Amino acid sequence: MNRDGAQVSIWQDIAPAYQTMNRLRQDATYDVVIAGGGITGFTTALLLQSQGKKCVLAEANALGFGTTGGTTAHLNTMLDATYPEIERDFGAEAAKDVARAVAEAITLIRTLSDRYHIPCDFFYKPGYLYAQQEKQTGELQKIMEASRRAGIDIMYTDHIPVPIPFMKACRFENQAQFNITAYLTGLAQAFEQAGGIILQQCLVSLPDADGIVPTSVGNIRAKYTVFATHIPPGINILHFRCAPYRSYAAAVTLNDNNYPDGLAYDMEDPYHYFRTQEVYGRSYLIAGGFDHKTGHEVNTEIPFRDLHAYLKQYYNLKSVAYQWSSQYYIPADGLPYIGKLPGYDQVYTGTGFNGNGMIFGTLTGLILSDMIFGKENPYAGLFNPSRIKPIAGFAAFIRENADVVSQFIGKRFSYEQISSLAALANGEATLADYEGKKIALYKDDKGKLYSLDPVCPHAGCIVAWNSAEKTWDCPCHGGRYAIDGSLLTGPAVKGLTRLSMNNL
Ligand code: FES
Repeated sequence: MNRDGAQVSIWQDIAPAYQTMNRLRQDATYDVVIAGGGITGFTTALLLQSQGKKCVLAEANALGFGTTGGTTAHLNTMLDATYPEIERDFGAEAAKDVARAVAEAITLIRTLSDRYHIPCDFFYKPGYLYAQQEKQTGELQKIMEASRRAGIDIMYTDHIPVPIPFMKACRFENQAQFNITAYLTGLAQAFEQAGGIILQQCLVSLPDADGIVPTSVGNIRAKYTVFATHIPPGINILHFRCAPYRSYAAAVTLNDNNYPDGLAYDMEDPYHYFRTQEVYGRSYLIAGGFDHKTGHEVNTEIPFRDLHAYLKQYYNLKSVAYQWSSQYYIPADGLPYIGKLPGYDQVYTGTGFNGNGMIFGTLTGLILSDMIFGKENPYAGLFNPSRIKPIAGFAAFIRENADVVSQFIGKRFSYEQISSLAALANGEATLADYEGKKIALYKDDKGKLYSLDPVCPHAGCIVAWNSAEKTWDCPCHGGRYAIDGSLLTGPAVKGLTRLSMNNL
């Protein structure tokens, strides 16, 4: 399985490339085109197709290529937005709704894996949140009280499953974990068996008013379009309400088999997270953390080094089997945006999932399938992408937008200078100012030079080099590009412009 970076996640090694079964009929009209072959797209597609809609799922690369292939696959009702924050910003009833909605998402994963006999190692596990400083213990108390009010089964505990010193900890029940590639493959097979069509290497653009959906393999006629692409294409309000971040993960083996039984999270900012995954009879500790805003870490090898050093402090490491980084979007007011794409009537999306993409991607399937069937969904109002929450998350909203604005006006005039192309070592990249032209340069390990226009085709920000994944990442809305400029993921619908050496 391919993914949007040079590092290999634990999931990629265990899933062969997916071979599709059914063929598209160019002359047919479909009910729904779903863009995006991750958990959001396949959950939505399967729920629609299995209840009678005629669907096409189109993925710009291959199944699981985006953040689904880079997840750590925690299924939790304790979210990155805490229940005190949700209560404060949306009210106590909304906090209960969020807790119910995410619990339903976990149940749906369980139900679908049972119904379609998907061997995805779904297990319910307890979750643990622990405070390591005095200041965090007060916060933990507030989290526990608000979580209880929201309906979460949570209590203090003396034990946590990780060998890390703590002052106070709580345990919450009915969390879960699974093998995402096995699950995704199972959903894809069930979708095809129900008559659905999967197109890989097919990039979808916004439809026109007549229901013509342009794609890189030709137009498709459909009543509805769903963008399950992590962030929708085009430029609209959601791009200013979601900020892209990267998180770093590793799957390591241990000498002493001290693998945690449960999901564990500390309260640092950014926080560290842990769980165990068994693959082909071998256990791995999956750990993550060291998040930063996309395009804001000059050397993206450093977070990996920090993660290894952190793990070594507490664990008897045998080997680092896998390490990878992955992108996620933080929503301005803390909750994801799921529903109609603002400005469109027949176009739907789900974005701003924070670090809870497995849960919110699944919830997106539940909400959007109800909406497309014209059924009332109890959570549609809460997650409506057109909601206006000027108080909730206002500071974050301004901060993220200030960053976007400074990218637009400032960064193009402050490039690092290099004296000549020769200054670039093999395997390195730079943003250079060469004879009055701004260029993104990368020299591969054999010395081949790739030169690109660094202006992101989405909305004109300047991309930054991600040395660990060997990609060009846009700090504004998270568009990501390969070394040859081709589009990997994000809201853009085309890649960076290639510059031939004659153009320089
Ligand atoms: Fe929006 Fe690059 S992703 S400007």
